[in-house]
Amino acid sequence: MISGPADADAFILANTVVATPPLVPELRLRLASAVVPIWQATESALEEIGVEPPYWAFCWPGSQALARLLLDEPERVHGRSVLDFACGCGIAAIAAAKAGAQAVANDIDALALRAVAINAGLNGIAVAVQGGDLLAQPRAAAAPLPAGEGQVVLAGDVCYQQAMAERCLGWLRRRAAAGNEVLLADPGRAYLPAAGLAPVARYRVPTSRDLEDSESRDCIIWRILP
Ligand SMILES: C[S@@+](CC[C@H](N)C(=O)[O-])C[C@H]1O[C@@H](n2cnc3c(N)ncnc32)[C@H](O)[C@@H]1O
Repeated sequence: MISGPADADAFILANTVVATPPLVPELRLRLASAVVPIWQATESALEEIGVEPPYWAFCWPGSQALARLLLDEPERVHGRSVLDFACGCGIAAIAAAKAGAQAVANDIDALALRAVAINAGLNGIAVAVQGGDLLAQPRAAAAPLPAGEGQVVLAGDVCYQQAMAERCLGWLRRRAAAGNEVLLADPGRAYLPAAGLAPVARYRVPTSRDLEDSESRDCIIWRILP
């Protein structure tokens, strides 16, 4: 059973290798590889040791695209506060910090937040982490996030399950309506909404056939319209 940051870090280091995501080769991350296939561990085996499905051990196409955009166009976030919602391994927050933003990475999975800290350190950059379920905030809390708390909100690859997509989109739209700039990066997941989005950039992201059943995915970064 994982109980505390030291155990979490040991688990992450034991189950990942240092790798470079294909679309963002200038960054290094601790990721699962074919040599340490924790994604294939059965759900019950992970449950026994108190581990959620390890999304943080993979660099999903959405956040790779966001990271590419921010490293190529740092002026989008330079000097601004950025919230990487549902950050997973944290690549989008790390890229935002490299681009000169004050970056905060949020995820409900405590292991993801440890992975972000390790990954930020690997890239010589600081990223603050914030646990907890921001989607559970009351609807009334839809005022703009205060300066320093997510003038720009990033959401990479969050439309992979219907319930998650519906919950997220409601919250992301409220953030946009409240004045935050909200960028959603999606590689064609089934539950992406059909309306209320404006395209910002498009990337072809190399992927693993094991994980995505395809050699690459077309990923579009959308601005969520208020
Ligand atoms: C497919 S992964 C995407 C991770 C990352 N954005 C990327 O593109 O690599 C989805 C992530 O959403 C996180 N998640 C699910 N529900 C969440 C919630 N209510 N608040 C924050 N994170 C959540 C999961 O823990 C997981 O890390």
